[in-house]
Amino acid sequence: MTENAFVFACEHLRPGARKQVKVNNRDVAIFHLLKTNKYHAIDANCYHHGGKLLTGDIEDLGDKTCVVCPLHHYKICLQTGEGLYLDLNSNVKSKGVKQRVHDVAVRTDGVYVRIQIDDRKIESDHYANMEELLNSQNPNQRERVDLKQMKQQRDANKL
Ligand code: FES
Repeated sequence: MTENAFVFACEHLRPGARKQVKVNNRDVAIFHLLKTNKYHAIDANCYHHGGKLLTGDIEDLGDKTCVVCPLHHYKICLQTGEGLYLDLNSNVKSKGVKQRVHDVAVRTDGVYVRIQIDDRKIESDHYANMEELLNSQNPNQRERVDLKQMKQQRDANKL
């Protein structure tokens, strides 16, 4: 199942800029890449432990462009949502799709995003709405501790 409608996400970004928005109750990070002059929309919170991708560096890995999570430096492909890494021979390897990516349409009045939801369970779904997650009464104690630590870390680093 896919959400069919493109939803207005934000005004046009200046070249190379990025912005986090809420689309259909989901945290989405939008990046404009100078190199390709294209927009990319991806779940805003890292699949690993919810790091805020908006502040991550952009890095090329082979022919893929990645955002590097500021918390533990995982590399996530902006085009496909794959978790990527270099093996011992410096070959680019994929861990599979870990982060949900969304469709982007650029119209005269701004940037529109269509949320891509399907039957697959993608790891970033867990952190799709960080505010809701942090406020939830999760019965899993370890999860609560991790989230509390993460919130403190994020507040301290302003990530
Ligand atoms: S939270 Fe992103 S790499 Fe750990």
